[in-house]
Amino acid sequence: SVAAASEHHPFEFETALKDLANSSNVKSVPSKFNFINQPTALTSDSIPIIDFSALTADDPHPRSKAIHDLSKACQEWGFFILVNHGIPEELMKATFTAITEFLSLPAAEKKQYEAKSASDPIKCGNFNVANTSNQIITLWRDYLKLYVHPDFHCPEKPHLLREVVLEYSERTRKLARILLEAVCDALELEQDYVDQVLKLGSSFQMFAANYYPPCPEPDQAIGLPPHTDPGLFTFLIHNGVAGLQIEHNGHWFNADSPQNSILVNAADQLQILSNGRYTSVKHRAVVNSEKERISIVVANGPAGEAVVGPAAPLVQKDGHPLYRSMKYLEYLESQLLKDRVGGKSLLEQQ
Ligand code: SIN
Ligand code: FE2
Repeated sequence: SVAAASEHHPFEFETALKDLANSSNVKSVPSKFNFINQPTALTSDSIPIIDFSALTADDPHPRSKAIHDLSKACQEWGFFILVNHGIPEELMKATFTAITEFLSLPAAEKKQYEAKSASDPIKCGNFNVANTSNQIITLWRDYLKLYVHPDFHCPEKPHLLREVVLEYSERTRKLARILLEAVCDALELEQDYVDQVLKLGSSFQMFAANYYPPCPEPDQAIGLPPHTDPGLFTFLIHNGVAGLQIEHNGHWFNADSPQNSILVNAADQLQILSNGRYTSVKHRAVVNSEKERISIVVANGPAGEAVVGPAAPLVQKDGHPLYRSMKYLEYLESQLLKDRVGGKSLLEQQ
């Protein structure tokens, strides 16, 4: 029930799942993790690939083709694989190394970051959600979530973590900005829309690391249930182990990606801004029995104070707004409420 769901604290920190999965030789999934009847996923060879270097090229021809491809990908899939993005492979590797070290810290060390409230700028632990029958289940995942912009927050240990998270966040923020400028071009919005309306100079950016240990019965548990992301563009990299799946035309697809690429998905504020032209794609993370999987996710939003609604020129073209406008921070708060009570997202309510 709704009452039961909201009484139950969504954050939990008994043992890290990492310790549970490694130590006790678990042969079956304890019932508190049970998330069953997941539809199976297909494989598609037509997930769009966007060449970032063409977006920043001086030559207008490859640039306008890349902008067109980007816009099409956001319309048809809400998802694409970004290549030639310029983020050094060593930085990505170092980020995985630092995250792995953090996850391996003794529980007592991590306990100080145990989530007490959703607005804590540093949080780690496990997470509980309501399944489709409104039972509270625990996700097969340990996570670390950091607010990294406009204010930067990061644990002090391990030593390297701060430096790599800071650099990775800055670089991905620049990428997001360029993607958004391209989107504005494609939608024929003013060049400065990004600065004036979205206030990207003080954009709200979150960094999350997800650790999914091997699971003895992968179809009895879930890493992350189907959801859309708040924000504009989410960037995801992983340790080479598959697990991300996206919904497309009513089917689930494995979102496999070449090494060193970045998986990008359009998020809720982009769907709103574009008055529904672009799709905030539903996705989920499944687990497997063989290998541990780590994903590193950066959610790039507008500023918390920015009021996001359908862009005025698009509303004029379409005749009416499909979504109402609100401050991004208010949107985030309403999403948290939704998580607690197992309700629908604001996009779905329209
Ligand atoms: C996410 O949706 O935030 C992460 C999904 C994944 O780990 O692949
Ligand atoms: Fe997500």
